[in-house]
Amino acid sequence: MSSATLPLANDPATAIRAETARIEPELIEIRRDIHAHPEIGFEEVRTAGVVSRELERLGIAHRTGIAGTGVVGLIEGGRPGPVLAIRADMDALPIQEQTGLPFASRHPGMMHACGHDIHTTTLLGVAAVLKQLAPQLAGTVKLVFQPAEEGLGGMARMIREGVMDGPKIDMALTLHNHPDIPVGRFGFARGPSLAASDKFEIVVHGKSGHAAFPQYAVDPIVAAAQLVGMLQTVVSREVKPVHPAVVTVAAIHAGTAHNIIPDSCLLRGTVRTLHGEAQDVAEAAMRRLCDGIGATMRVRCEMTYERGVPALVNDDAVLERVVQAVQSQCGDVIGEVEAIMGGEDFALMANLVPSFQLKVGSGQPGRSDDLHNSDYQPDEACIAMGVQALSRAAVDILS
Ligand code: NI
Repeated sequence: MSSATLPLANDPATAIRAETARIEPELIEIRRDIHAHPEIGFEEVRTAGVVSRELERLGIAHRTGIAGTGVVGLIEGGRPGPVLAIRADMDALPIQEQTGLPFASRHPGMMHACGHDIHTTTLLGVAAVLKQLAPQLAGTVKLVFQPAEEGLGGMARMIREGVMDGPKIDMALTLHNHPDIPVGRFGFARGPSLAASDKFEIVVHGKSGHAAFPQYAVDPIVAAAQLVGMLQTVVSREVKPVHPAVVTVAAIHAGTAHNIIPDSCLLRGTVRTLHGEAQDVAEAAMRRLCDGIGATMRVRCEMTYERGVPALVNDDAVLERVVQAVQSQCGDVIGEVEAIMGGEDFALMANLVPSFQLKVGSGQPGRSDDLHNSDYQPDEACIAMGVQALSRAAVDILS
């Protein structure tokens, strides 16, 4: 992107609007380029190259190769103050794109179906605007371009490799595009707003035998079927009703033929919770039910339960400042939305410093899109909206 000097230092709304409008066509080009060349987690080599090239052009100091393909840039304000991180994720999904758009994925079996191309581009736009406004900022903006958000642990690795330090991050913002919110609007959720996302695997061990002589076998399929039903009582009978929770058995595998009782049956699934208490209750109940089915049906159950990303808890004070900033910049276009049971590894950063995730409406008029969908077509006008909102939030927080 090219750079220009912004006039009107004491009117952030006008300056941010003007600069965003000026760079919007370039941002859309960048987004289409990233969209056409999606890369899955930890393979974002080309994408990181685009990010680095644009930061270079803007004269923003940055480091590459953090957590493999991560990029971290720094914009120093004119006065001292806190360090505000703004984070975007860069990875695509293993989905075959079906949009038929002229800039559709050129990489077979990969697609930006979660809009991380939008996030990366938005943060580049924010970088361009804030670089211009830097003399007015009291503090530092740390631009965090993260690899591998989609379940591969990109944020965990960035934290292990020191992203929180040098300089130390005091608070953090991120964005996610939302096709369920019309473009031009924003959403926010208070407190726990995205779920802790855990994985489990259960192996029900029985004893194989002839399907016509069940008395000589221990049938793991019948026990597993009972267990699937019993697991439904974790949410309905064990977790507090005011604590949202999901237990889903998403895979079940056993057997090879119509006349053989198999040795074992494998179940896999996920547990989603918004509160630590519900997470503890769910895990303990599942372990007890597995032990119980062993006693009642003669099988032996082995469960591995792996805690994944924690719940994303938005900080009230940061949330209020961003909501006010969005209202000052864009008008009455932000509203409260419900928590959702999806997960997001930005939660790891939010566990360390006060943080907030802004939901940027990306729904195209006349479409009803969903994320992780092979036909997902976000409205590109959401990029400029996100740039304005996050730039203004940074200006107001670092004032
Ligand atoms: Ni996403």
